[in-house]
Amino acid sequence: MSAEFSPFPRFRLAHLPTPLTEMTQLSRTISERGAPSPRLFIKRDDCTGLAGGGNKTRKLEFLIGEALAQGADTIVTTGALQSNHARQTAAAAAAAGLRSVLVLFDIVPYEGRLYRSSGNLLIDEVLGAEVRIVQPGTDAVAAIRSVMAEIEADGGKPYFVPTGGSNATGSLSYALAYGEIADALDALGIGKARIVHASSSGGTQGGLIAGAALRGKGPAIHGINVYRIDTKAMADGIHKLATETANLLRIPAPPRDAVHLEDGFLGEGYGMPTAAMVEAVELVARKEGILLDPVYTGKAMAGFLALIRAGRFADDEALVFLHTGGMPGLFAYEEEFLRA
Ligand SMILES: Cc1ncc(COP(=O)(O)O)c(C=O)c1O
Repeated sequence: MSAEFSPFPRFRLAHLPTPLTEMTQLSRTISERGAPSPRLFIKRDDCTGLAGGGNKTRKLEFLIGEALAQGADTIVTTGALQSNHARQTAAAAAAAGLRSVLVLFDIVPYEGRLYRSSGNLLIDEVLGAEVRIVQPGTDAVAAIRSVMAEIEADGGKPYFVPTGGSNATGSLSYALAYGEIADALDALGIGKARIVHASSSGGTQGGLIAGAALRGKGPAIHGINVYRIDTKAMADGIHKLATETANLLRIPAPPRDAVHLEDGFLGEGYGMPTAAMVEAVELVARKEGILLDPVYTGKAMAGFLALIRAGRFADDEALVFLHTGGMPGLFAYEEEFLRA
């Protein structure tokens, strides 16, 4: 770990480095279907190891580190009902001996049979998190403030982790992960590469961009918007996070044009399934034996495949799909995959 990261408290949670493997069967399938395929790799951040894994585990190492340094005894976070972030936060809190309270907003208009009981929600219960479900239309800030105040009134010391663990502290972890990916590519002798991944609250992409600025060379970064209708506003937010992360690392801010955020793969909205997502999840499962998820990585993989088919990447560029996790979400969307 380079010296820039040493001032920040870190509570180890993840199995690192995560594997970087080649997807040869997927690549062959793309070529057979008529599009030339570059070398395709997958970075397995679904294998970070904490209660189902995922990208939030890396962020939580720094966030829980900070919470412990501040003497907190309770972690409060928020997200949608099927939040992978909330599930990993509950697990991280448990591993650190802290209480967790999850304020989950019922904002996705998906009416699947198990959406409001299974998947991540089930695991939250198993992990012993206190789940507070908030109905649509409720003032989010007021709901979170009231939970924080209630914990304080009971003598607790809460630490708030924002949506997706996406503040500069959380994003430090993806600045660090950028070095991990770049080192692995260097070891394989791959000079030119691009990381493609699902982008939502922006901490993953903002951190990677700050990591690229810190290293000064290495793979390009390409986010796929799976979150907001307004891609430009989202890209501005990612740039702000990258800048704040660079500030923490005491390096110059990355330029705004370092943010590549692709739209066209969100469908009706956050958490709403698309036919391309189902196709991508099934293709990667059947060709590589790797499980993606319906909300993030499935849509990102649909985008990844579409961009390859459209010839959007340079022929000599290796592509690294960053698998950010989310597999428990499959159980909340069973109807999309059970067609019989
Ligand atoms: C599985 C998965 N992939 C990707 C993301 C997006 O990461 P970020 O919020 O850092 O943009 C999330 C965030 O919740 C996620 O759960």
